[in-house]
Amino acid sequence: MPRKKLIAANWKMNKSIPESVSFIDNFKNSIKSTKIKDFRDTENPKDFPVSSKNEIVICPPFASLNEVKKSIKGTKIKLGAQNMHFEEKGAFTGEISAPMLRDAGCEYVILGHSERRAYFDETDGIINKKIKAALKNKLKAILCIGETLEQRESNETKAVIKFQLENCLRSINNEEIKNIVIAYEPVWAIGTGKNATPEQAEEVHLFIRGLLKKLYNVDISENIRIIYGGSVNEKNAKELLAMKNIDGALVGGASLDPKSFAEICNT
Ligand code: PGA
Repeated sequence: MPRKKLIAANWKMNKSIPESVSFIDNFKNSIKSTKIKDFRDTENPKDFPVSSKNEIVICPPFASLNEVKKSIKGTKIKLGAQNMHFEEKGAFTGEISAPMLRDAGCEYVILGHSERRAYFDETDGIINKKIKAALKNKLKAILCIGETLEQRESNETKAVIKFQLENCLRSINNEEIKNIVIAYEPVWAIGTGKNATPEQAEEVHLFIRGLLKKLYNVDISENIRIIYGGSVNEKNAKELLAMKNIDGALVGGASLDPKSFAEICNT
């Protein structure tokens, strides 16, 4: 079975609630008018015949989750969050938990994003705890890993990826790993307009697949989705997504515009 591509929008700390709703309205129209004609279920969600070619996930800020959930009702668009705490409840002022995200209608959660690692001191150990909490609560995790420019320039890319992957996935078993998507996001490509070339990304994706084969088995490594993130836009998406081991994209900046994001989804 070919791996179904996953295109996720990471809005980061952008968009008010009305802006989020207006995005979804425009996005649905852009999607409808392009290749994926059967994307929307207009009459009856149960009779929806064909799913969209790609799986589409929108990860808005927490405040917009509820309204976005309402706006995507009856479509195949899925809801995701950008972060969560590993505890389920308690005295953690300002935090949100996996059960709360489930309650809010999320199916996915982005974990270990490089901005969380850099600005909020998230370590692989913390990310590992978050992944376990997410999976326990039936959320699928989009685990982000990636090297800095300095690490790439000193030829440490593969060592960094291996370290992050092994530590973030510590004691995640063969069943649990099936609910994880790996996002390779070179830090130097995020928000810089400087994407990895398809060949550069493919090389790392292939390396990650090889690591997963060693950590798990060949079936798991062949079925898991490894998506790319870092300055993906409507111009470069096609080439990146054409690579054998690139199973989708995690899109930041270009996901803020409904037309650009729709074009990427229709690639
Ligand atoms: P970018 O962000 O597309 O703006 O580079 C990607 C990300 O941070 O996930």
